[in-house]
Amino acid sequence: MSYIVEIENLTKDYEVGFWKKKKVRALDGLNLKVESNQIFGFLGGNGAGKTTTIKILMSLIFPTEGGAKILGEDITDVKMHASIGYCPENPYFYDYLTARELMNYFGELFGLDSAERKRRTEELLTKVGLDEKDWNKQLRKFSKGMQQRVGLAQSLINDPKIVFLDEPMSGLDPIGRREIRELIAELREQGKTVFMSTHILSDIEALCDNVAILRKGKLAATGKLDDLLTRGGERQIFEINVKGVSKERLQTLIADVPTAEIYAKPNGANIHVQDESDIEAVLRIIKPSGGKLVSIQPVKQSLEELFAKETG
Ligand SMILES: Nc1ncnc2c1ncn2[C@@H]1O[C@H](COP(=O)(O)OP(=O)(O)OP(=O)(O)O)[C@@H](O)[C@H]1O
Ligand SMILES: [Mg+2]
Repeated sequence: MSYIVEIENLTKDYEVGFWKKKKVRALDGLNLKVESNQIFGFLGGNGAGKTTTIKILMSLIFPTEGGAKILGEDITDVKMHASIGYCPENPYFYDYLTARELMNYFGELFGLDSAERKRRTEELLTKVGLDEKDWNKQLRKFSKGMQQRVGLAQSLINDPKIVFLDEPMSGLDPIGRREIRELIAELREQGKTVFMSTHILSDIEALCDNVAILRKGKLAATGKLDDLLTRGGERQIFEINVKGVSKERLQTLIADVPTAEIYAKPNGANIHVQDESDIEAVLRIIKPSGGKLVSIQPVKQSLEELFAKETG
């Protein structure tokens, strides 16, 4: 199995205060592996160490201990950085450049010829939903959302295999978020890998295949989002949603189904069972009692519950 990102024992102490005597441990022995061609969600509360990790991966700051590889190359390898993209947390650009000039500038850094720079600039600015009339406006006149879009376009100028997005949805309104979400999903369709940090749990649920949750610089949980959200670990719970029959009536009817728990709902009830054989036992009882089956599904905890649990 080859990984597109491999982080090993990554530790970072910031030196703060007068004489830089005090140390703040932002990352503490972080290990993480990311497979390619997916959207990987990098989660954690404020100050958990997400931006620090991404900055180290981008070689903008240096680790105190440990290291990482991207595309199989050490993060100190300069050539590898030409194949990756990065959009910082608060993209800050030369205020007096226009969107077009900024894209052209980054295109030059990556060694694209002028025709290619023009083509990719126009394609990407269109794709991130920036109006053509704004392409020649100075960036200082851009709203937060527009800056975020230019940042995203800039991170894609070199057609990277993997792109690191630090809070790509911040500052966007709901429509803007949906557009950027679609764009990120499209990147995966094109076979790219997206490594993104975000606080917006609905975006993670909509987009991410796998996630890692950081807590105080350490890995609190990682894995497939679906698996992490399955409640009760190995003990799967199923929810049977019925209507037309009350909780009280069900309670007497299914008293002998050992794992069943019943929760009242308007016009019906939810029955939780742990065994698949118990599902059938419940179904046999519902019909004759006048109840109607609405749905059966495995119970998942919400991402919010998971996040609260893992981030403390
Ligand atoms: N340049 C710095 N100097 C000193 N301490 C820093 C510096 N940058 C970050 N820190 C500290 O390191 C820890 C991790 O910060 P980091 O910015 O990586 O967190 P984050 O997960 O990105 O948070 P957020 O969700 O708020 O963006 C925090 O305690 C922060 O105060
Ligand atoms: Mg951050």
